[in-house]
Amino acid sequence: MKIVGVLGSPRRTSNSTALAKKVIDTAKEMGAEAEVFVLNELIFKGCQACRGCKGENDHCILNDDLPEVLDKIREADALVMASPVYFGDVSGQLKRFIDRTYSFFDDGFITRLAPGKKFIFILVQGNPSEEVFADIIPRYETFFRMYGFDTKSLRATGYQDAGLVAENEELMKRAEELGRELVQ
Ligand SMILES: Cc1cc2nc3c(=O)[nH]c(=O)nc-3n(C[C@H](O)[C@H](O)[C@H](O)COP(=O)(O)O)c2cc1C
Repeated sequence: MKIVGVLGSPRRTSNSTALAKKVIDTAKEMGAEAEVFVLNELIFKGCQACRGCKGENDHCILNDDLPEVLDKIREADALVMASPVYFGDVSGQLKRFIDRTYSFFDDGFITRLAPGKKFIFILVQGNPSEEVFADIIPRYETFFRMYGFDTKSLRATGYQDAGLVAENEELMKRAEELGRELVQ
């Protein structure tokens, strides 16, 4: 079982990263291999709409840090993706990554990924209301389902300050369960 982690928070002590790490570390304890990418530490552009991935080439042709990450996801069994909510959406870092996954589609929006991959989407927001920004996860899950991923999610609301989510035993336990489910 190979897992790729893609982290969208720029914070060193990040709530979304803490949950993603719990998922990934639990899976690793059960024998999974994992590689984690902090998007804020990579140099990459947003999708250039060059359609270079839609002709002879079925991979992203941009020459920056992201094609390696995209290739690793193609080879992996699972993707764990985490982000803070910024202005009612995922962080800019994560949105640029998501746009670059366009290379996972062929010219007819058919997935190029092998079936059976698992996907866990983790999202943390400062606003305490469960109703506010409830649209974000389902909106992106639609596309990851089109890629063929079996999707699950974890959402934490009401966490403004860095790292505080780690004190919520229930959320950390759910993250642990998700890590176990990845490997089972
Ligand atoms: C630029 C910026 C925009 C934000 N926008 C929102 C927002 O629209 N709604 C919200 O509930 N929280 C918002 N927040 C708060 C973050 O979602 C919150 O601090 C979260 O815990 C960050 O997750 P992280 O620790 O993983 O980075 C914003 C924070 C920043 C820095």
